[in-house]
Amino acid sequence: MKNWILFIAAMLSLVSCHKTPQTKKIKVPAEIEQLIAEMTPEEKVGQMTQITLGAFYKKNVLQTEKLKEYIVKYNIGSVLNIPKPGVPSIEKWHEVITLIQDLAQETRMKIPVIYGIDAIHGTTYTKNSTLFPHNIGLAATGNPKIAYQGAQITAKEVRASGIRWNFDPVLGVGRQPLWSRFEETFGEDPLMVEEFGLATIKGYEGDDVKNIPNVASCMKHFIGYTVPRTGKDRTPAYISDIELYNTFIPPFKKAVEAGSKTIMINSGSINGVPVHANKYLLTDLLKNEWGFDGLIVTDWEDILYLHKEHMVAHNNKEAVKMAINAGIDMSMVPNDLSFYHDLVELIKEGEVSMERIDDAVRRILKVKHELGLFENPYPEKEAVAHFALDEYPKVALQAALESMTLLKNDTLKGKAILPLIKNTKVLLAGPAAQSLSSLHGSWSYTWQGTNEKVFPESTLTIKEAIEAKVGAKNVNCISPEGFHQVSDKELKELKRQARKADCIVLCLGEGSYAETPGNIEDLELSQDQIKLAKVAAETGKPIVLVLTEGRPRIISKIEQDIHGIIMAYRPASKGANAIADVLFGDYNPSGKLPFSYPQFSGNITTYDAPARSEKYYNPQWPFGYGLSYTTFEYGNIQLNTDTLNVSLKLAVKIEVRNTGKVDGAIQTQLFVKDIVATVIPPIRKLRKYNKVFLKAGESKILEFELDKSDLTFINPDLAEVAESGEFEIQIANKKKMFYGKF
Ligand code: BGC
Repeated sequence: MKNWILFIAAMLSLVSCHKTPQTKKIKVPAEIEQLIAEMTPEEKVGQMTQITLGAFYKKNVLQTEKLKEYIVKYNIGSVLNIPKPGVPSIEKWHEVITLIQDLAQETRMKIPVIYGIDAIHGTTYTKNSTLFPHNIGLAATGNPKIAYQGAQITAKEVRASGIRWNFDPVLGVGRQPLWSRFEETFGEDPLMVEEFGLATIKGYEGDDVKNIPNVASCMKHFIGYTVPRTGKDRTPAYISDIELYNTFIPPFKKAVEAGSKTIMINSGSINGVPVHANKYLLTDLLKNEWGFDGLIVTDWEDILYLHKEHMVAHNNKEAVKMAINAGIDMSMVPNDLSFYHDLVELIKEGEVSMERIDDAVRRILKVKHELGLFENPYPEKEAVAHFALDEYPKVALQAALESMTLLKNDTLKGKAILPLIKNTKVLLAGPAAQSLSSLHGSWSYTWQGTNEKVFPESTLTIKEAIEAKVGAKNVNCISPEGFHQVSDKELKELKRQARKADCIVLCLGEGSYAETPGNIEDLELSQDQIKLAKVAAETGKPIVLVLTEGRPRIISKIEQDIHGIIMAYRPASKGANAIADVLFGDYNPSGKLPFSYPQFSGNITTYDAPARSEKYYNPQWPFGYGLSYTTFEYGNIQLNTDTLNVSLKLAVKIEVRNTGKVDGAIQTQLFVKDIVATVIPPIRKLRKYNKVFLKAGESKILEFELDKSDLTFINPDLAEVAESGEFEIQIANKKKMFYGKF
């Protein structure tokens, strides 16, 4: 069983730490080899050391002597994170990075420092940058091009800030809705994660990372981070080999093939083995089998955590030995020189070979070289011209609009509740009505995204955007300050004000959080918000719910009381404008859920669960669900042949018509169901998707092509196979059988 082979390989990598992994030597320019030949072991270890800028601050004052010591004496190769205090301006960034690169020029080898930052839905940490919807919303657009455009703008603003390395995109498949980083994922489907991930990488790296305005991307977090069994951040995952290869590996493998320059490792573990110590995954698979020739960086403090959290090492030194021998190239230490000192000793003791160290340094210097840092490590004046251009908020608005997902639209008195007419007297109620942080989520000007004082002045709350659209006189608002605190006074006020309102728009969801602080015990929406919704329902007024949330908080207790529901995810800078446009019909929504929205906490599953689970797939709304203000109808599925084989592809045609009165876009998802397979087949699998815009009354023929690779799965020998037999194509409510003959 391969399962055992993987397990034994991983365990061996834990115990036989002094054995050097045999990594295939990567190709680098001759000058890099020359540098490596001239460097001392200490200088090499310095290059492998990444320190947070925060380590050089006392209160808000940068300790330049300490910075100088780390760079000039210890040759640290990389710095991450942000200058203090507040959100740095472009000028502040330039000042700090210039200082760092000046210090690097004082070292014997004059190797530039590579600075890394998290700009994960726009340029998180530069004042007045534009933020785009989090990935979960981008996936709902069904339009990877918009992800590409957002990433390109992000690269421009990051490089304008003097930074050339972005710790993004997240390529983990989001299948654990409790997890606090769910919003950072492109949802539960591996194909969507792959295609949106590749578009993002292309947006960051362009054709050549050396050129302004491109930056190096960082695929993360390799691998299995997105499915902690407890739902808590950085806790163990248990993933069968088949699932690992079927679901989690493809986005990473494709991104490696696409040439992403760097990769960050999952802080957690798979099947009991911390990924930072897993030689099979890091060296045998990633570096050797896939031929990844970029650099592998740890996540925050994760070597130390092998000792302090995972308990697989007795002390930091043993942890360093494990991680480096497993294949780590750079340690995000990030607070001190413990990694440096331990690794220098390990080399002297022969516990880590120079061959392994040289492999790491070769990869680090290669990336620095590719980024043009050896030619000019300083912030570039020409790059600044790309900062904060007028077109960026337009792209952010377009992305937010396309992400809006209409989940419910009841007909009341013969008319759909949404869109609202513009002279409707609206009562806004709920904590998200005036919360910028709920609109933005994590990594928004600060790590947690909770400091609303630092958002650009142009950013609107939902209340402000609605007032701008229909006039303040038509809007009242009751907005509790937190997501867990609704007072009796506010509830009373809600009842009173509802009398004057034509409609109540509930703005519910979640405040902002990032990583471990976002852990929750219960996926249900907070009890206070449920109470608020119940009181709103008692008024008898029509109710629309707008959800701004990073994960699908269960709302089954109130869903039946609500007439219209818009899922807005974390739509960011222009999110409130997009919500207002959809509420009042200036935009016809076309978003589709990129995950299965759970109905019950005891029933969390994905749309592609094994066939036998089909009768239990009972979400509030399934993967791919999303309504429109118009109606669409599909014709029958037409095929060029009833048998697909190695040489004959299947050409699929289907007509779609906008049968309503409003223009609008429609996302079409093509699923394939494998009727019988030697490994229990999934209920169905997304194989193709597209989006077209149709004027009212217009129709189009959609064309898709399926080949053998669209019918494969991973078998118990971990081979990717397609088996002969019957398959069914499903597009909306249309179905058609065909045969696969291999
Ligand atoms: C996160 C990473 C991030 C890193 C650097 C870690 O805590 O898990 O996603 O890139 O910090 O900020």
